[in-house]
Amino acid sequence: MNDRGGDVVVVGAGLIGLAIAFELAERGATVRVYDRGEPGRAASWAGAGMLAPYTERLTDEALLEFCASSLREYPAFVERVLAASGIDPRLRLDGVVHAAFNDADLQALKHHAQALAARNVATEMLDRLSLLAAEPWLGSHVAGGLLVNGEGRVDNRRLGRALVSACQTRGALIDRSSALRVECDERRVLGLRTDLGFVTAGAIVNACGAWASQLQGVPPACVPPIEPIKGEMFALAAPVDFVRHATWVLGAYLVPRDDGRLLVGATMESAGFDERVTAHGMHELLHAALSAAPSLRSFAVTESWAGLRPGTPDGLPFLGPTPIDGFFLACGHYRNGILLAPATARLMADAIETKTDAELRPFSIDRRRTEESSPGRTTYV
Ligand code: GLY
Repeated sequence: MNDRGGDVVVVGAGLIGLAIAFELAERGATVRVYDRGEPGRAASWAGAGMLAPYTERLTDEALLEFCASSLREYPAFVERVLAASGIDPRLRLDGVVHAAFNDADLQALKHHAQALAARNVATEMLDRLSLLAAEPWLGSHVAGGLLVNGEGRVDNRRLGRALVSACQTRGALIDRSSALRVECDERRVLGLRTDLGFVTAGAIVNACGAWASQLQGVPPACVPPIEPIKGEMFALAAPVDFVRHATWVLGAYLVPRDDGRLLVGATMESAGFDERVTAHGMHELLHAALSAAPSLRSFAVTESWAGLRPGTPDGLPFLGPTPIDGFFLACGHYRNGILLAPATARLMADAIETKTDAELRPFSIDRRRTEESSPGRTTYV
């Protein structure tokens, strides 16, 4: 029971919604999660699970600190999810490599390493031979690279399954409903109308990812401006440990799974709710991956897919309370939803349970940024 006098309803069963439900359920709240689709799918399933705030080169200080804190929380979060579910999400914090293929890019990596050193982030510059020793699959034309220690990856599909099970073990209910409509008066939230009837709620969390602006029944002041940013990916069947670290190359990143699957991503495109895999997207990714590593050319392509990142005008998520009492946002995580699940869950549970939301203020729906820039351009990686 939260101090608003009722159950918590989370709308959206992606990693963010499930992590919030798990956190609240572990703290003893009564939680229900609703989604129009299968839990743990959409962007939560489509992502590569890279946990790399520094390699992502985030420029907003509040967002970078939030991402760094979530990365620190990941091991304990995964342990709790594993304990409640019995499913290991296979967290690997063995570092992320960024490979350079010319002197200018290598120089830029050196500057990045210096900037990270000033923040006490441990990195290693790798010369060409050390990089090829660490990642022999890279093309011999590689110039060198940067290893950011402490970054890594998680198997986001396993994490989704683990969180569904962990939520259920802790008593949170997860249901599907084709129609979802928030009901509120001019001051506070009342509940959620679903296919299964009306559910009263002391608090409702919009965790609908790329669909967050489409949740019905929400007053305009509480509707987050979210734009889907499509990402296409494919998987290769490689030998286990062929690629050791998650690795960025020019125009793509490659993320290994423990079973040998090698994920290659990801395009960035503003294309509405189009989730098709396109010839153009595959061409760009294959070109980037094979230019960096001709050794990949004989592996079988086993899967291709696309997902929709929840983009926001300024690249920051929308988190915390809204002008309607009891209505909360946890959406707009853009390229960092998997990374931000643990810290989002903790801080959202604090905000819902005890109205403590100071750390979420940079991400409030009320922020007004004059320098808004759209993430909706077509670029790669
Ligand atoms: N975080 C990587 C991506 O969104 O493509």
